[in-house]
Amino acid sequence: MEKPINRDADLLDDGESSNDQHPFGGMWTRIKLEALEKYLAAFNTALSKQSFTRIYIDAFAGTGRCDIKVDGANEAIDGSARIALAVTPSFHKFCFIELQSRKLAALNALCREYPSKSIEVIPRDANSALKDLCSQYQWKSERAVLFLDPFGMQVEWSTLEAIAKTGAIDVWYLFPYSALYRQAPKNADALDADKVASLTRVLGTDEWRQVFYVQNPQPDLFGDSNGDVRDTDHHQMLEFVSKRLKNLFPAVTGPKVLYQGGDAKNLSGPPLFALYFAATNPRPKAHGLATKIAKGILDTL
Ligand SMILES: C[S@@+](CC[C@H](N)C(=O)[O-])C[C@H]1O[C@@H](n2cnc3c(N)ncnc32)[C@H](O)[C@@H]1O
Repeated sequence: MEKPINRDADLLDDGESSNDQHPFGGMWTRIKLEALEKYLAAFNTALSKQSFTRIYIDAFAGTGRCDIKVDGANEAIDGSARIALAVTPSFHKFCFIELQSRKLAALNALCREYPSKSIEVIPRDANSALKDLCSQYQWKSERAVLFLDPFGMQVEWSTLEAIAKTGAIDVWYLFPYSALYRQAPKNADALDADKVASLTRVLGTDEWRQVFYVQNPQPDLFGDSNGDVRDTDHHQMLEFVSKRLKNLFPAVTGPKVLYQGGDAKNLSGPPLFALYFAATNPRPKAHGLATKIAKGILDTL
C-alpha cells in the first residue's frame, strides 16, 4: 500500500509576509540546509589551495531566512543564501536567483550586509537564468556549487542538461517527490495536458508514461478495455528519477528522502522531498572526492 500524500505539505509558503519573513518548511528544511552548509564548507576547504574561482549559485534563493514549523512551534533559521554568505573559507562570487519581488528586496538587503562580497542578485526565472549562467563561463578556471531548492516541479530537465555540460558544477537538488507523485494520478484518465507536460519537463522524457502505467487488468462492464492505471508506487517512481539523473550526471549520491514530520533519524508523515547530490565533473578523481564528501554528509544527517 502506498502512503497517502499530504497535499498541503510541500508548498508551505504564504508568499505574503513582509520584510525577510519566509514562512515555509519544517524539519526537512533544517535537514536540507544542514547538508548544504556542511558541503559548502567542505567544498571551499578542499579547493582553497587551488586557483579556481569558487562560485555559489542559489537558483531558488528565497530571502536568506526561513520561518519553519517544527513540532507545532515556529522557528526562524538562516536560509540558504545567508548560510552561503557566512561560510568560511568564502566563495569568491555569489549568484542569487529569485522571482518574487518581495524576496528580491530582502535578498538585496542581505547583500548590503556583505559589502565586500561579490554578489549578483538575478531577478529571473531560475531555468533561463541558469542556462545563461552555464554558457556565460568557460568553466576552466571556475568551479561552482548550485543549490536547486524549488517548492515544486519548477526545474526543467533541459536546465539539468545545461548544468551537466559545464563539467564544473556540483549540484544539490531537492527533488519534489510528493509533487511528482501528485502529477501522476492512479487512473490515467485523470492525466490532463498540464500534468503530462509537467512530468515530461521535469523528467526530460515521456518514457514515464510506459514505465508508470499499464492497461487496467479490470475490463469495463462490456468486457472492453478500461484504460490505463498506474502500477508503480512512489518508491518505484523515485527509482525512475534516480535512474534518469544517473544517466545524465557522472556521479549521483542519494536520495535522502525527507518526510513531513519527525527528525532525520525518526521519520514520520508522508515523504515530501528527495535530496540528491550530483557532480558534473567527468574526471573520476574530482567527482569521486565530491561524492565521498556528499555521501558522508548524507549518511550522518
Ligand atoms: C523553497 S524556497 C527557497 C528557500 C531558500 N533556498 C532558503 O533556504 O531560504 C523556493 C523559492 O523559489 C522561488 N521561486 C519559485 N519559482 C521560481 C522560479 N521559476 N525561478 C526562480 N525562483 C523561483 C520562490 O519565490 C521561493 O522563494
